[in-house]
Amino acid sequence: MRIDILTLFPEMFESPFGSSIIKRAQEKKLVKINLVNLRDFALDRHRQADDYPYGGGAGMVLKADIVIRAVQALRSPDCRVVYLTPQGEVLNQALVKKMAARAHLILLCGHYEGIDERCQAVIDEEISIGDYVLTGGEIPAMVVTDAVVRLVPGVLGSDEAHTEESFGSSLLEYPQYTRPRVVSGLEVPPVLVSGDHQAVRRWRKKMSLKRTLLKRPDLLLQREFDPEERELLEE
Ligand code: ADE
Repeated sequence: MRIDILTLFPEMFESPFGSSIIKRAQEKKLVKINLVNLRDFALDRHRQADDYPYGGGAGMVLKADIVIRAVQALRSPDCRVVYLTPQGEVLNQALVKKMAARAHLILLCGHYEGIDERCQAVIDEEISIGDYVLTGGEIPAMVVTDAVVRLVPGVLGSDEAHTEESFGSSLLEYPQYTRPRVVSGLEVPPVLVSGDHQAVRRWRKKMSLKRTLLKRPDLLLQREFDPEERELLEE
């Protein structure tokens, strides 16, 4: 998979993409993340990528000619151009899955007051990472990239991939414990050290259901329960 990120601040991505699982995914050539400086598509001597808004007002607007030129230079037959904006569709795991199925994403990060409306000529879809306003699209592009890359086959080891199963079923993760067995008088639930794998699996499923019910009941409204889940909820 290839992800091109169009930004005025490519340096913001260096540490997040140069660490941990995203770094390993690039080293394994499972994903190519291409940081593109929008200024490289400016034609003037000062490489100006933004300008004052027509009609006046505060802030600067990303120039349409630069964005259009950049997208045209990078586009491929199976690519999707995504603009990160609070006006977009709010990101969730279903949307992440759809994006992960693409061979090529172009993520456009706005900054300051936004982009010239004529950039829409090359934009396929708009995504928001939540109902709050950030200073730019860079952090949202990192969020989208991280969520998408971890779904690319081979990126997560088989141990890590398990986590996906949990959110894939729209339930929150069950509680986890590691050594030592007692911390400040707090013990690990006995079932987890019982060696009974079936009991552990059922306990985890029950805890996932309970947690989701308590913390995010809205997630359960969009989902049906299987027979085992019904049984666990009644226990
Ligand atoms: N740019 C600024 N705020 C944003 C948000 N919440 N989601 C996506 N892009 C943004």
